[in-house]
Amino acid sequence: MRALVTGGAGYIGSSISNYLLDKGHEVIIVDNLSTGTIHNVPKEAKFYKFDIVNSKKITKIFLEKKIDIVFHFAAFINNEESLKRPKKYYDNNYKKGKIFFENCIKNNVKKFIYSSTAAVYGNKNFKINEKERLNPISPYSKSKLKLENFLIKNKKKISCIILRYFNVAGVDKKLRCGFYTKKGSNLILNLCFALKKKNIFTVNGNDYETRDGTPIRDYIHVQDLAEIHLLAAKKILKKNFFKIFNCGYGHGYSVMEILKKFNFYSNSKIRYVIGKRRKNDIVISIADPKKIIQFLKWRPKHQNLEHVVKSSLKWYLKHI
Ligand SMILES: NC(=O)c1ccc[n+]([C@@H]2O[C@H](COP(=O)([O-])OP(=O)(O)OC[C@H]3O[C@@H](n4cnc5c(N)ncnc54)[C@H](O)[C@@H]3O)[C@@H](O)[C@H]2O)c1
Repeated sequence: MRALVTGGAGYIGSSISNYLLDKGHEVIIVDNLSTGTIHNVPKEAKFYKFDIVNSKKITKIFLEKKIDIVFHFAAFINNEESLKRPKKYYDNNYKKGKIFFENCIKNNVKKFIYSSTAAVYGNKNFKINEKERLNPISPYSKSKLKLENFLIKNKKKISCIILRYFNVAGVDKKLRCGFYTKKGSNLILNLCFALKKKNIFTVNGNDYETRDGTPIRDYIHVQDLAEIHLLAAKKILKKNFFKIFNCGYGHGYSVMEILKKFNFYSNSKIRYVIGKRRKNDIVISIADPKKIIQFLKWRPKHQNLEHVVKSSLKWYLKHI
C-alpha cells in the first residue's frame, strides 16, 4: 500500500511509519514540524514539510502519486495547554483537519484512519466500550471529537476507521524514533525526565476515588498500536465501511503504581511530592477492547510494563 501519513514526525506517527515501512509499504509524510522533529522521520519515507491546510501542496502529492490510504495523526495534543489556549486546538485539530479531509475527498482519496482519543469519553469508572456516552471535558478532546463528527457526517462518501487511543506508551523497537519533548502529559516520559535531572516528581492529586487515590489509565504500547493500524488499513483497503474502535488493553495502572514500577525496573528511587490535582483531569480511563479484538483479530503483544519502562528510558537517556 502507499500511505499518506500526516504528523509522521511526531511520536506516534513516526513509530507507525517505521512499522509500515518495515512491512514493505510506501510512506509519504506531511508534517509542519510544529511539535514533531525531522529526527523522527524515517529515511525510507518521502517527507514534505508543510501544513495539512496547504491544500495546493497536498493536491500536488495526490496528482503525482495514487494514495491508497491516509493516516491522520497531525494534531496538537497537550490537554493542559488546550485549557489555556482553546482556539489553538479548535483551529488546528478541527478546522484544519476538516479542510484537509475535504481536500482528500475532492481528490478522490477516501480511505481514512483517524487518530482520536479516549478523552472523548471523559470520566468513567468502568471499562469503556464504543457505545458509551461521550463527554469530552477539555478543548483538546472536544476538538478531536468535532473532527470525528465531521467524518461521521460524511460517512456515505468515505471509508473510515476512527481509533480512540487510550494512553500510548513505549517506543519503537529499534529505538529509531520517539518523544523528543522534555516534558508533557506523558507520565512515563515525565518520570524519565525526573530521573535524568534528579528532580522531585509531582503526583498531581492523591485524593481521587481510586484504589490508591491517584488517577488510573490504560497504557497501550506504540508497537501494538502500530499493528492495529496495519490490520485496520488492510481491512479497509479490501472493503468499504465506517467503524470506531477503542485501542487499549482493558486494564489500568494508577500513577502511584507506575511510579513504583518505574523505580523498580529502572533501579532508581525517584523522590516525589503530592501536588495539586490537575484541572479537568480524567480520573479513570480503561478500554473495553472486545470490539477491536474481534473485528481485527488483534492480539496485544507488548503489555509487559518492564519492557515499556526500560525501552522508554533507554530512548530518553540516549536522545534527550
Ligand atoms: N500520545 C498519546 O498518548 C495519544 C493518546 C490519544 C490520542 N493521540 C492522538 O495521536 C495523534 C498523534 O499524537 P502524538 O503523541 O504522536 O503527538 P505529537 O505531537 O508527537 O505528533 C503530532 C505531529 O503532528 C504535527 N502537526 C500538528 N499540527 C500539524 C499541522 N497543522 N500540519 C502538519 N503537521 C502538524 C506535529 O508537528 C507533530 O509532528 C494525535 O492526533 C493525538 O490526538 C495521542
